[in-house]
Amino acid sequence: MSNLKTHIGKLELKNPVLIASGICGFAEENIDVLNKVGGTIFKTVTLNPTNGNCPPRVVDTYEGMLNSIGLENPGVDGIKDKLSYIKKIRTKKIASFLGFDEKEFYLILKKLENYKIFDAYELNLSCPNVKKGKWFYNLKNLRKLLKNIRFITKKPLIAKLSPETQVVKIAQICKELGYDGVTLINTYSAIAVDYKEQKFCLGNIFGGLSGPVIKPLALRWVYEVKKSVGINIIGCGGIIEGKDAIEHFLVGASAVQIGSGYFRNPQLPIEVVKFVEKYLKEKRVSLKDLIGKLI
Ligand SMILES: Cc1cc2nc3c(=O)[nH]c(=O)nc-3n(C[C@H](O)[C@H](O)[C@H](O)COP(=O)(O)O)c2cc1C
Repeated sequence: MSNLKTHIGKLELKNPVLIASGICGFAEENIDVLNKVGGTIFKTVTLNPTNGNCPPRVVDTYEGMLNSIGLENPGVDGIKDKLSYIKKIRTKKIASFLGFDEKEFYLILKKLENYKIFDAYELNLSCPNVKKGKWFYNLKNLRKLLKNIRFITKKPLIAKLSPETQVVKIAQICKELGYDGVTLINTYSAIAVDYKEQKFCLGNIFGGLSGPVIKPLALRWVYEVKKSVGINIIGCGGIIEGKDAIEHFLVGASAVQIGSGYFRNPQLPIEVVKFVEKYLKEKRVSLKDLIGKLI
């Protein structure tokens, strides 16, 4: 059997396939899949419960989907009710969080630490569907935030970046501050129009574009950041079959996340793990040697 183990800094994964934030919720029926992948990133939590945006909040587009969920979540204290569910997951459990100001980020992380259940954290620096909270796109503010967060926890830290920011510069800051990796990328801000009804498809007008249409854009960022910064990368964007994951590895991702592809096929994460294993065997190459082979 090929060795599928991979590392994102200090975070060891039994295989390189993760479930992206916002995809699985906290539903019992997903446990079987979550226990076969390398780990799960839970829905982003904010300090206080958030209702999200007005409906409709999801629309299919050509080769992708647009969502404007807008961070609907029970707030960091609300996770208490999910602990028995989270404990059933035997693979890596990664909390995703976002503060609307600096202090909120620190407070949420301290509360998450108190649960003593998460193996790592993913900072959501990237949600396109929230109007507040963009202050951290200022690099000076961001460096201070990332530095202070690094002091709060010894656990692995991953920053998830928006493709619509200074991706390379932010990844460089993460590397300098000892972050274990970056997730590239979140969705692209976009609009869908219903020409028959002559109206916007989403209640919020804007949504985040994901799915196959963003894969080449994600691959571009993975390649560019790996080549110029060299930090560990989790590739995310447009994975709907096994070969998409291989493409992410070839341009430098050490692991991948599956997002909207899961909605088409909830068995996809397991199928991707199997495909990667078969591919490595057939090509007689280790995962380690495959990662960044095209760089
Ligand atoms: C319905 C939905 C909800 C999402 N919620 C979150 C979220 O809470 N936090 C986050 O960091 N990303 C969120 N995302 C973005 C995904 O984690 C992922 O970055 C994005 O969908 C790109 O991957 P994909 O092309 O495989 O879907 C969400 C995506 C979708 C489709």
